Amino acid sequence: MKLPFFSKKQAAVSDLFLNETIPEHVAIIMDGNGRWAKKRGMPRIAGHKEGISTVVKIVKTAVKWKVKVLTLYTFSTENWKRPKTEVEFILRLPKEFLSIYLPDLIASNVRIELIGDIEKLPAHTREAVEDAIERTRDNDGLLLNFALNYGSRQEILHAMKEIFLDINNDEFSLQELDEQKFSDYLYTAGMKEPDLLIRTGGEKRISNFLLWQLAYTEFWFTDVLWPDFSEKEFLYALEDFCKRKRRYGGL
Ligand code: IPE
Ligand code: IPE
Ligand code: MG
Repeated sequence: MKLPFFSKKQAAVSDLFLNETIPEHVAIIMDGNGRWAKKRGMPRIAGHKEGISTVVKIVKTAVKWKVKVLTLYTFSTENWKRPKTEVEFILRLPKEFLSIYLPDLIASNVRIELIGDIEKLPAHTREAVEDAIERTRDNDGLLLNFALNYGSRQEILHAMKEIFLDINNDEFSLQELDEQKFSDYLYTAGMKEPDLLIRTGGEKRISNFLLWQLAYTEFWFTDVLWPDFSEKEFLYALEDFCKRKRRYGGL
């Protein structure tokens, strides 16, 4: 599918470098909500609320361009360090978002999934997401994957413990443990690894996100704060991805 060229360097885009491959799996670190609010003299939570409208826009764009998986970093295992009121506010947003948009998501054939340590989430958050997972389980359009109470180190340790138990129970032997098998124990089991990682908000770090899965992912950073991130910005990122040559260590 051909992308519209919105980039500032439109004329310079060489068809030679363009493979027109839309990334199948896009992962996004949605950062900058707090700063967006602060710049406007508003409380940080106003930024989180505004961030929801960006989620809606980006999901629509992902559906439109037939992205297969969109993973959104929504709440990290480290975000519990924030003030209780902010944490509570953020963890109420999934329910709020789903209560408004689930019918649209179902109509768009979107399937919802969650990665992260679900047990430690408040019941209202867990139940809202579990209900959405259940109600969208037969959809085969965009897989909208929320990383909620997600931390990659926690995920890897969790996988290691499960593997240890299964080896102990003679489900398989240590010799059989390879990269594929290990991946099967991660929350992302069965999902293609991200092709493109986007981080908004200007920081150049991955903040404990998908450490294993990002081994050969293309990175795209922007200073734009998440509530200001637009369809146009998203298309810049997709377009930039199309121009890259992935070598995976080969030639
Ligand atoms: C990202 O925005 C949302 C979450 C981490 C939940 P931040 O809240 O980190 O916003 P900044 O980085 O402080 O601006
Ligand atoms: C990463 O953003 C987590 C999410 C977007 C959910 P943070 O704002 O928590 O990351 P740091 O603290 O800047 O590394
Ligand atoms: Mg941040």
